[in-house]
Amino acid sequence: MTEAVLLVGGQGTRLRPLTVNTPKPMLPVAGVPFTVHQITRARDAGVTRIVLATSYRADVFREFIEDADLGIDVVIATEDEPLGTGGAIRHALPHLESGSDDPVLIFNGDVLSGLDIAGLVRHHRDSRSDVTLYLTPVEDPRAYGLVPTDATGRVQAFLEKPKTEAEIVTNTINAGCYVFTRSVIDRIPAGRPVSVERETFPGLLAEGALVTGVVDTGYWLDLGTPLSFVQGSVDLVLGRAPSPAVTSTGEALLLPGASVAPDARVIGGSAIGRDAVVGAGAIVDGAVVFDGATIAEGARVENSIVGAGAVVGAGTVLCGAVIGDGAVLGRGNELLDGARVWPGAHLADGSVRFSSDA
Ligand code: GDD
Ligand code: MG
Repeated sequence: MTEAVLLVGGQGTRLRPLTVNTPKPMLPVAGVPFTVHQITRARDAGVTRIVLATSYRADVFREFIEDADLGIDVVIATEDEPLGTGGAIRHALPHLESGSDDPVLIFNGDVLSGLDIAGLVRHHRDSRSDVTLYLTPVEDPRAYGLVPTDATGRVQAFLEKPKTEAEIVTNTINAGCYVFTRSVIDRIPAGRPVSVERETFPGLLAEGALVTGVVDTGYWLDLGTPLSFVQGSVDLVLGRAPSPAVTSTGEALLLPGASVAPDARVIGGSAIGRDAVVGAGAIVDGAVVFDGATIAEGARVENSIVGAGAVVGAGTVLCGAVIGDGAVLGRGNELLDGARVWPGAHLADGSVRFSSDA
């Protein structure tokens, strides 16, 4: 038996306003809450029990898990106050059944990857590591945890979100999945916030613990920003990213009840939610349209996210925009490059030609 802890308690600040009502891992990606892709991948890799470490909007997870049948035992742990990544792992400990020498998988709740999860656990056992980290190379590592290793794979440092050029010693980053020997979790301080990245990993390295990195160059994406959120959904729909929760791949995914006018074009790996409507002549390209939203005739929606029940007026153009749940955009607006509309907001016809670098 292998157990896992899935860290899903963050506020998803960079995905506001979508995360005002829904925590990031519960937002629909290629038709199901993102967390379902991760849970089913873990299940298929042999994980039999998973603890969801929740904090922000824990109620939304609880309600979903009560009714879901994901073929794996899911337990929910909820922090009263957010305890940070390390604090959340420690808080999940009483829910784990593993022995003190057993490996426990930890997943960040917003990472889509093609990692060989079972292979990582095997590597952890074979190398007798205290902690094994999944690492991946990226072009620009500054938004991540930098993890230099020696020739044997032994981790030499952990530099979370480097501030100076001098700290950028590698482009190999922490890819957000770890194997901890359970007794190492026991030693994380309880009852206070702890960052696994800023406190636990540097502390383990300072005391000479064996922390091993495994570099995997396959598919990897952190869905923390609007553009990467759209990218993750598109890659799943097109079949570029692996998930057992996606059963058929193609140019578009239409959920039950979605209706698309015969001359509308839904392309580029777009996902159209339940009972959503795409009107005559509209173009939806590389976008995510949540349940019950309406894209009116002649509108163009590219690389954007349209929240549940939102309305995009006739002829309106969205490109790289995020529209909150229930917002109503009148006809002939244009929202580009990082524009965000808050839930329930109304924009009059032709009132906005907006572009920003946000
Ligand atoms: N339960 C709980 N409680 N979960 C939390 C808390 C908390 O207080 N704070 C954050 N999390 C969860 C988030 O929900 C997310 O799934 C995960 O921890 C990581 O938080 P992010 O906010 O997404 O961090 P990040 O993307 O800036 O950086 C992390 O991920 C990178 C890879 O994607 C770090 O681990 C980096 O080192 C790493 O490179
Ligand atoms: Mg993240």
